[in-house]
Amino acid sequence: MASDNGVDSDCMTITRFLIDQQRSCPGATGSLTLLLNQLMTAVKAIASAVKRAGIANLYGIAGSQNTTGDEQKKLDVLANDLFINMLSTCGQACMLISEENEDPVIVPEENRGKYIVTFDPLDGSSNIDCLVSIGSIWGIYEKKTPGPPTKEDVLRPGTEMVSAGYALYGSGTMVVMSTGCGLHGFTLDPNIGDFVLTHRDMFIKNRGKIYSTNEGYEKYWDQKVTNYVHSIKYPEDEKKSPYGARYIGSMVADVHRTFLYGGIFLYPANTKSPNGKLRLLYESNPMAFMMEQAGGRATDGEKRVMEIEPKGIHERCPVFMGSTYDVDDCMKFLTA
Ligand code: AHG
Ligand code: MN
Ligand code: MN
Repeated sequence: MASDNGVDSDCMTITRFLIDQQRSCPGATGSLTLLLNQLMTAVKAIASAVKRAGIANLYGIAGSQNTTGDEQKKLDVLANDLFINMLSTCGQACMLISEENEDPVIVPEENRGKYIVTFDPLDGSSNIDCLVSIGSIWGIYEKKTPGPPTKEDVLRPGTEMVSAGYALYGSGTMVVMSTGCGLHGFTLDPNIGDFVLTHRDMFIKNRGKIYSTNEGYEKYWDQKVTNYVHSIKYPEDEKKSPYGARYIGSMVADVHRTFLYGGIFLYPANTKSPNGKLRLLYESNPMAFMMEQAGGRATDGEKRVMEIEPKGIHERCPVFMGSTYDVDDCMKFLTA
C-alpha cells in the first residue's frame, strides 16, 4: 500500500507474485519462477536499450536478414542476444526457439533445465526508428521426453504451453503474462527497477468497438474478410455507430490495446501471404494463450489457434483474436 510519501512499503513485485502462485500450486519447484526472473532481466535491459536507442546509436539496420527474410535491426539483434544469454544460463531451459535464429538454440548440457522457450525478442521492428511502441513475446513449454532436445519437442499445439507473456515498451514498460491461472499485468517502476502488479486478473470485454488490421491489404484479402470488416463499418442497424479503427503495426501494442479496450485484432491470410504473416510458435500461440486466459477468443478462421499442430518452428498462421462476440461475428462471415 502506498504511504503518504508515495512509497509502497508492501509492493507486489512480479517475483513475489510468482512465488505466491508457486506456493499454491502443488508440485511446483520454483523452476519456472527462476526462468521468468531471468527473462525479466532481459526485458529490463531491452527496455533500457529502447529508451537510449536514439543516443546510443541503436537505430537502423544490423546489415543482416533473419530466418524469414526480414532485415534485422540493431535492436532485433541486441534483444535476441539478451534473451539467449539470460535464458541459456539460468539452468532452467534446454532449448530456445527465436524468430531471429533459423535453428533451435540448444542449451549446453551442463546448463539444461526442463523448459523450452519460444520468443520474438523484438516485435514491431518497423516501428523502432520512429519511437512507436514495440514489444517482446514469449511462450514456454515443458520438455516431455528424455534425451537431448530436438525440434520435435516444440512441435506441439499451443494448448500444451505452460506459460506465455509479452513485454510492451511504450510510454511505460509493462509485462503481461499468464502461468495458466489468469492473466496479470505488471508495470516497471523505474524507481525500484522492478515490475509491480498493476493489472490483476485482466479480462477482455465480451464486445468492443475497435477493429485492428492492416486494411491496406484489402485488395489481397478473401472476400469473406472484406465482408466482415464492411459489416462493422456499415452496421445494418442505422442507429449503431461503426467500429473505430486502430492499427499500430506492432502486434504487442495492438493486442495490448485489445485486452484493455476490447474489439478484434486480425491478420488474415491474403493472396501475397497465404498463411498470413504472424508466426505460430512465438507470436500467435502465446497471444492466443493469454487471450483465452482473459476470457477472449483466438482462431485461425477455422479452429482455435492453440489447436494447430505445428509442422515447422517458423510457420505462420492467420489470426483473428479479441472479444468473444466480435470474434464469433467474424467467424460467421468466415465460415459462411
Ligand atoms: P516483427 O517485427 O517481429 O517481424 O513483427 C511484426 C509483425 C507484428 O508485430 C505486426 O502485427 C505485423 O508484423 C505488422 O505487419 P504489416 O506491416 O504487414 O501490417
Ligand atoms: Mn513480431
Ligand atoms: Mn521480431
